Amino acid sequence: MLFNISPANLSDHATDLLVIALPTGEPAPVAANLFQTLTAQGDFSGKSGESVSVPAAAETAAKRLLFVGLGDADKLTAKALDKAAQAIASAAVKKGIERVTLAPQSALNAGFYRQLGLHLGLKAYQYTQTFGTKELPTASTLARIDVPEHLDEVQRGHQIAQGANLTRELGNLPANTCTPTYLANQAKQLSHPKLNVEVLGEDAMRQLGMHSLLSVGHGSDQESQLAVMRFTNGGDEAPIALVGKGITFDTGGISLKPGAGMDEMKYDMCGAATVLGVMQAACELDLPLNIVAVIACAENMPSGRATKPGDVVTSMSGQTIEILNTDAEGRLVLCDALTFIQQENPSCIVDMATLTGACIIALGHHNTGLLGNDDALADELLAAGRDAMDTAWRLPISEEYDKQLDSNFADMGNIGGRDAGTITAACFLSRFVKNTPWAHLDIAGTAWTSGKAKGATGRPVPLLMNWLLKRAG
Ligand code: BES
Ligand code: MN
Ligand code: ZN
Repeated sequence: MLFNISPANLSDHATDLLVIALPTGEPAPVAANLFQTLTAQGDFSGKSGESVSVPAAAETAAKRLLFVGLGDADKLTAKALDKAAQAIASAAVKKGIERVTLAPQSALNAGFYRQLGLHLGLKAYQYTQTFGTKELPTASTLARIDVPEHLDEVQRGHQIAQGANLTRELGNLPANTCTPTYLANQAKQLSHPKLNVEVLGEDAMRQLGMHSLLSVGHGSDQESQLAVMRFTNGGDEAPIALVGKGITFDTGGISLKPGAGMDEMKYDMCGAATVLGVMQAACELDLPLNIVAVIACAENMPSGRATKPGDVVTSMSGQTIEILNTDAEGRLVLCDALTFIQQENPSCIVDMATLTGACIIALGHHNTGLLGNDDALADELLAAGRDAMDTAWRLPISEEYDKQLDSNFADMGNIGGRDAGTITAACFLSRFVKNTPWAHLDIAGTAWTSGKAKGATGRPVPLLMNWLLKRAG
């Protein structure tokens, strides 16, 4: 697909899809008669969220016209522009559409063009890897963008989408392919002259004393892995640290989960997949930043060797943990990854994990849960999420909640009871963060969609990339 903006002579412009994005009340710059009919019949008014696709009118050389509403011209929100970008991308990737032209419109800003590039990339994604004979629909992918003034933003958005699509692909892969070793190997597939990747297996982790992380994989025949990506493209600044939960399948372990819907626990590595998607996009965009990223990969299985409720393990930090529920395993791998990454002296840490079902109860599937120890970092991330329409919402942490983790037999238990499950999980993690600004993203509700459209969403790659791009200046 070729995407362009045509400033002049819209009526004579030959294209498969001519997109006209309009605020409420504004007349179309082309096909006046057709537009009049649409508005008179109430088919289009320019409201945000509206989009009407019509076959070519006699008035233009375009094969199809797409009218997209932007809402009130005085208050063009990121949300309205994002909705418009989504509608345009959906229409643009349809089969048979090779040339897309966007009529110029002063209301469209840089943020819109980044979202447009993002959605063009996201809509073109199709999972194909594990089909045998089924015929799959093909989407038209973006081959060339010819949008002179906004080329950078569209391309940036499109690169972010490629990162998010890697995240989606890894999330969608079944756990018999996407094992801890497979996931860690994905880190080695990333390529940039300033990227160094190291993978630690169980022996190396034992040497480091990561017995909390290792306890999660005890019941599995798959070896646990820790992949470390050091991206040194930013001079001598302290690195930004990213940490991802990579449970390639979460049965719950001996605290076995119910059977219904358990297949979805293949998505329990979406934190790690997000880190990989972000690192791929950071490499492609050649971000002038230092980033150190760690993914903690393990499979949580029951077996004769599995960790049992009541077992006590010593974490890399020296703190001991009474594992009261083997299904609260995400925090057990993250705590050692957090201790590990602090040895790199990062300026801040952001971890991401499909950590708690409680987060879905609190925030549903619209907002990622954000918790942490630093208001400035939290605010930066919240703002980046709003710009990318990949939003997060902050929940509190404090000592009252932290108390719920007290244990009679170890420095802490790994669960804090039914109340405030997302918060007590974050309190647990906070015990492993010393003096570094830290934020935790609970993506249990946002990383994938259930039901008919089951699949990984690629969130929160857009949030994190908008944040990193801002940090990069
Ligand atoms: N991976 C799950 C969290 C999860 C559940 C994500 C459902 C998405 C959908 C996590 O490992 C888990 O099992 N958490 C437990 C914690 C509890 C035992 C304290 C949970 O949320 O039930
Ligand atoms: Mn679990
Ligand atoms: Zn889990």
